[in-house]
Amino acid sequence: MKALILLCGVISIHAKIIPLSSSNDVVWTFQNKNESIMGNATVPGGIYSDLQNAGVIGNILTGLNDIFTRWVSYDTWIYTGRFRVSDQDLKSRVIQLVFEGLDTVAFVELNGYPIGASNNMFVRYMFDINQEVQLGENELKITFVSPVEAARIRSHNEFTPPQCVPPEYHGECHANQLRKVQLSFGWDLAPAFPSIGIWKPVYIHVYDEAIIRSVLTHSQKVGSTWHLRVVVRLETGVRPTPLKGILTATIKVEGRQSLRKWLYLNTTSRTDGTAEISMDMQISENQVRLWWPNGYGEQPLYDLDVQMTTLDKQDITSKSVKVGFRTIQLIEDDAASILGNKTDAGLGLTFYFKVNGYPIFMKGSNWVPSHILPEYAISQNDVVDFLLDSARAAHMTMLRVWGGGIYETDYFYEKCDELGILIWQDLPFACAMYPIDRQFLQTVIEEVEQNVVRLQHHPSIALWVGNNENEAALRFNWFKTSSNFALYKKEYVKLYVDTIRPIIEDLDPRRRYLVSSPSNGFKSEEEGYIANNPYDPHFGDTHYYNYLADNWDKSIYPKARFSSEYGLQSLPSMITLRTATNVTEDFHVNSTFCKARQHAPNGYAFISLQIQPHMKLNETDPAYFEKFVFYSQITQAMAIKAESEFYRQSQADFYTMGAMYWQLNDVWQAPTWSGIEYGGRWKMLHYYAKNFFSPVLVSPMFKLTGDVDVYLINDRFEPINDAQIVVDVFNWGSFSPVSTKLFNAQAGALSSVLQDITVDFWEDNDKTEVFLRFSLKAKAPVSSPYNFVFPKPLYSIVGLKKPNITMIVSNIVLRTKEQKLEYTVELNVDTIVLFLWLETELRGVWSDNGIIVTEPQFKLKFISPIYVPPLQLQKSVTFQYYSN
Ligand SMILES: *[C@@H]1O[C@H](CO)[C@@H](O)[C@H](O)[C@H]1NC(C)=O
Ligand SMILES: *[C@@H]1O[C@H](CO)[C@@H](O)[C@H](O)[C@H]1NC(C)=O
Ligand SMILES: *[C@@H]1O[C@H](CO)[C@@H](O)[C@H](O)[C@H]1NC(C)=O
Ligand SMILES: *[C@@H]1O[C@H](CO)[C@@H](O)[C@H](O)[C@H]1NC(C)=O
Ligand SMILES: *[C@@H]1O[C@H](CO)[C@@H](O)[C@H](O)[C@H]1NC(C)=O
Ligand SMILES: *[C@@H]1O[C@H](CO)[C@@H](O)[C@H](O)[C@H]1NC(C)=O
Ligand SMILES: *[C@@H]1O[C@H](CO)[C@@H](O)[C@H](O)[C@H]1NC(C)=O
Ligand SMILES: *[C@@H]1O[C@H](CO)[C@@H](O)[C@H](O)[C@H]1NC(C)=O
Repeated sequence: MKALILLCGVISIHAKIIPLSSSNDVVWTFQNKNESIMGNATVPGGIYSDLQNAGVIGNILTGLNDIFTRWVSYDTWIYTGRFRVSDQDLKSRVIQLVFEGLDTVAFVELNGYPIGASNNMFVRYMFDINQEVQLGENELKITFVSPVEAARIRSHNEFTPPQCVPPEYHGECHANQLRKVQLSFGWDLAPAFPSIGIWKPVYIHVYDEAIIRSVLTHSQKVGSTWHLRVVVRLETGVRPTPLKGILTATIKVEGRQSLRKWLYLNTTSRTDGTAEISMDMQISENQVRLWWPNGYGEQPLYDLDVQMTTLDKQDITSKSVKVGFRTIQLIEDDAASILGNKTDAGLGLTFYFKVNGYPIFMKGSNWVPSHILPEYAISQNDVVDFLLDSARAAHMTMLRVWGGGIYETDYFYEKCDELGILIWQDLPFACAMYPIDRQFLQTVIEEVEQNVVRLQHHPSIALWVGNNENEAALRFNWFKTSSNFALYKKEYVKLYVDTIRPIIEDLDPRRRYLVSSPSNGFKSEEEGYIANNPYDPHFGDTHYYNYLADNWDKSIYPKARFSSEYGLQSLPSMITLRTATNVTEDFHVNSTFCKARQHAPNGYAFISLQIQPHMKLNETDPAYFEKFVFYSQITQAMAIKAESEFYRQSQADFYTMGAMYWQLNDVWQAPTWSGIEYGGRWKMLHYYAKNFFSPVLVSPMFKLTGDVDVYLINDRFEPINDAQIVVDVFNWGSFSPVSTKLFNAQAGALSSVLQDITVDFWEDNDKTEVFLRFSLKAKAPVSSPYNFVFPKPLYSIVGLKKPNITMIVSNIVLRTKEQKLEYTVELNVDTIVLFLWLETELRGVWSDNGIIVTEPQFKLKFISPIYVPPLQLQKSVTFQYYSN
């Protein structure tokens, strides 16, 4: 039955959203094709979470459930929603069904009428349903075909390499055929859960005249004035419609002032129903404060409200965004201008970000989705909060939202805006060649346009990047493409350059679009977008992994202008592993469980290879597995510390201006490159990041000759002039230094400076018996964490004793603002301790961990959202450390 549509305008109806998320009024169910499985569904949601909630499948992240539940992704799933529509709603001129996200290949029916289809989970689909919607009860049915099957079928005609992921991933083939989170077909860091479902909100939008869909902002500083262009995107349904009304933009600035701009609108929307109106505002630099990255200043944000009142019916539609005022530029200039043209370093181009006119060294990591199921990745804001707060605590200024994941939620970028975390935004294309058939390109155009429009106003977004590693993949023949190089290159250019680039340049002209990461930036473009060597250290960004060399050794690393990926694996803690299995036999690197969780070919062997040059670990040791877990975290932390400091040091002679290690967070309990475990426990790496990314750092470089170079790194706007570097030589068996030397130290603002210091302590000392400690004596707030040089492999050191460690909880303070408790713990030890690791099952993070203890007494803080009596915390803490 067709609904009766009243087209008269007797009553004024304002724009309204009828949510179709599951609720008392909207009931959703799911069933598979042969109806053997049915249940109640949560919308937004997905089939894996629904089956888990219904008890059809167990916890997807335990045991081998990623493999055992794969059948789910081979079936067809039908979601049916029932909801009611009132007489009032039906009177609206526009009645639009909006899906913010359908994952992925689906057909949509309303009351038995087909109304549309989807093939891209990153696209918002809108269907006019005036004809199909009816008074009273309505039935919305979405049929999702198996994404695995859909990808396979598309690959018959549109095949592009790779054929499949490596067998170690236990994944599925042809993820590149679908515009779907690429991670979901399996990755080296992730299980395969080829997700299905209504993963984002669905609602009906009813209105008479127009709605404001999005607001774009472009700010530019000219003299002492910010020119803010506000671009308002209106929709009037899906056909051209006259638009008459008053459009106002109001921005609240400092001193409780508001600036307002308004215009009278008398136009007609385009054939697709959209209209775009620009308004220019001038804001004096005195009326707003600058937005800075984390650690460099504050992050003031200003409310911008845009409102439209239509003339005919006095419909009001509005939209608010927060604006941050800052400039950001990616500088690719002749490197000789900074480094001179006498050395190799001066060849090529610089690659660094200038924020508000200052060159800022970007410290950070790579972000993967916060959950393997996309419906959770976008709904668990507490997880996003925790991870981004953790990044901020580790002095990070930039995160790269990696191309194997998703365009994150508005919430994510709002939080980054607030925390001062800049975002390097990859588009979700990764590690593959991609098809360029008409259907694919069409949906990509829509995808990129919608997401850039949605996210563009965030001050945290620093740049857009076309893909992850696809330039390198083609150049280095990762997927056996060399015999068709010219063809794949042409297709690559067609997709990322001819199709995507103009969209971004048009919508967001002030941000740089890089075609790939890593790439040589302008140099890649000059060389036809597939550079001769996309890893050329003299250009752009690089990714660097070397599992064969000793990664604690800073001298192995090639220089780079900007290192956007580097990493090593470690295992998650036993506590986190126990959330995946409690079977004792599983805790063995050769168990079926451990092998299935290790997706990196030869992964455990590479971890062993990193441990061997430094620490003693015997496979016959009854505690071998626990030690392997612990040592893997030590070696990862030490290696990434070495590499990160190497890049920070290299600002001095190579103008390296970025270090973002792989990877910040995790999607499951498995050996991966993450610094934070699934579930939120910080690995030793994340504690170390807090220190090695410290704004001021004394950083030694122990050379093969035995000499030690010492750098003073200063990320502050003020130079360091009257400071001293203290070098203590310790025996492994005593807290009293054998010798102590002080050196005058200096470093200009925003610089890394090799100090004129000769550290030659070796004459009188056996290197197996001593180590060096570096610290900084300076006026507060300038300070550096301790830093160390261990001249000999730890397995060979002499004099290290077994420590006696005691701990008491001495104080508890409520941090009201963060709703957290801060426990002070006092530790007493009787000798030097290596990598002292405190662990408790209680939720929280320590102020430091994995500590090289060189003082008999010290204090730590434990920050936790949970109150427990001091004694309970005290008793729950276990200690681990390294000993021979
Ligand atoms: C129905 O579907 C389920 C799940 O995919 C499958 O296990 C079962 O064999 C199917 N039953 C029939 C009769 O085809
Ligand atoms: C679904 O929910 C309804 C209403 O809450 C309930 O009556 C029904 O038993 C549920 N069905 C299943 C399969 O759980
Ligand atoms: C609106 O524009 C139309 C067509 O350009 C014009 O005829 C009309 O007078 C305008 N109305 C107002 C109120 O400006
Ligand atoms: C090297 O730098 C000097 C000084 O900046 C400049 O005069 C000279 O032209 C440069 N040479 C080359 C080859 O770029
Ligand atoms: C293993 O045991 C711990 C402690 O009893 C429990 O919290 C955890 O959920 C269990 N893990 C699994 C996979 O059952
Ligand atoms: C695991 O298996 C490999 C290959 O068979 C073997 O070399 C290694 O010693 C085993 N590891 C342990 C801890 O038993
Ligand atoms: C490992 O331990 C076993 C038994 O305790 C011992 O025989 C062997 O020599 C040890 N291996 C190494 C390399 O220390
Ligand atoms: C360990 O240290 C504590 C306090 O410092 C002391 O009371 C205890 O006797 C020591 N234990 C051993 C075994 O030395």
